[in-house]
Amino acid sequence: MPGDKSVSHRALILGGLAEGETVISGLLESEDVLATAAAVRAFGPRVERFGPGRWRVIGAPWRSPDAPIDCGNSGTAARLLMGAAAGHELTATFTGDESLSRRPMRRVRRPLEAMGARFEGGDTLPLTLHGGGLGGIEHLNVPASAQVKSAVLLAGLGTDAPVTVTEPLPSRDHTEIMLRHFGVEVETDGRVTRLGAQRKLGGRLVGVPGDPSAAAFAWAAAAIVPGSEVHTEGVLLNPLRSGFIMALQRMGADVRLDNVRGSQGETIGDVRVRFGPIFGAEFTPEEIPSMVDEIPILAVVAASARGETRIEGLDELRHKESDRLMLMAEGLSACGVEARADGDALVVQGGPVRGGAAVRTEGDHRIAMAHLVLGLAAAEPVEVDQAEMIATSFPGFREAMRGIGGHIEEVR
Ligand code: S3P
Repeated sequence: MPGDKSVSHRALILGGLAEGETVISGLLESEDVLATAAAVRAFGPRVERFGPGRWRVIGAPWRSPDAPIDCGNSGTAARLLMGAAAGHELTATFTGDESLSRRPMRRVRRPLEAMGARFEGGDTLPLTLHGGGLGGIEHLNVPASAQVKSAVLLAGLGTDAPVTVTEPLPSRDHTEIMLRHFGVEVETDGRVTRLGAQRKLGGRLVGVPGDPSAAAFAWAAAAIVPGSEVHTEGVLLNPLRSGFIMALQRMGADVRLDNVRGSQGETIGDVRVRFGPIFGAEFTPEEIPSMVDEIPILAVVAASARGETRIEGLDELRHKESDRLMLMAEGLSACGVEARADGDALVVQGGPVRGGAAVRTEGDHRIAMAHLVLGLAAAEPVEVDQAEMIATSFPGFREAMRGIGGHIEEVR
């Protein structure tokens, strides 16, 4: 499996903020992460690739970049970089592609302004940030966004004042874990996260584990295609990212975890999924943060399960690379599956899947990958209207799926 996307962004950014050299192995070399690599370099640190997935970052004081920072399709790049940059005396303009330019940035702009950063622009990109001279904050992180929490913590490295983030539900904690790995004091009780007095980073070795949000597509394929079995090694099993594995298990899928171990503060391990009968299930809003990016592929699994699946609390899905709640209901319905959005819930009736449709993705990588996996279990092929954007998160998707027997071809 490719390296984890969330951890890859953070490794580059923390490496750029640290004193000395950071050596990264297993970095995900997808378009989103390469946007972060280019951005960190533009702020002054040295960022070099010396082999496949192997990168070296030499930290330096961040300065104003010569040109706008292009975050491409990546919300994580935009929000984390704004936070990291806000702690420095600099001016930077952040831009993104059409999809990213529609996504909400007020949620990150507001706390950074409360800390003393200044912005020009509105609630979406492009935005110009004037950083430096920050004070502390007690931020209430609603909705529970790991990107916003990370932005506040990274900005907080540029002040000695108290910095606290409180969340209604715990969001992924890779920033906190990696900050500790780089020598920063971070305390948390799972809901309230606080920076300690020690806020200087020292360069480190970082090994990026396999991405559970990419592996989810292979696990789902194994769970719904008769006769399948898939093994994935060294995958990130952080509990705040493992909701999809628990969801598969709750639906009755044959999932086994092996060799579960700690690595640089994270939990990693091997996962094996085997085809077997699966059943519809209900999921509550509290379960969503730990599988927020896996809802499209969970809906695909639900389409092949026996009975109804109801996934509640999906409002945030409307603000991802596309309105994923709407597009999943639409795409599954086009493929003959009874699926609908009911307020902020997604309801899917499982059964044999017909397929045989062309699905609209609006350029969203996960909508495309989810429907291609649906095609593996459907009676007739499933077509997606765009596939090149899969490279934003999983450049080797086609080869990986072919490697386990999936037939994916370009139609035009
Ligand atoms: C991410 C956080 C999540 C997730 C995104 C990656 C991160 O977004 O959907 O793909 O790396 O922090 P939110 O912070 O908006 O929930």
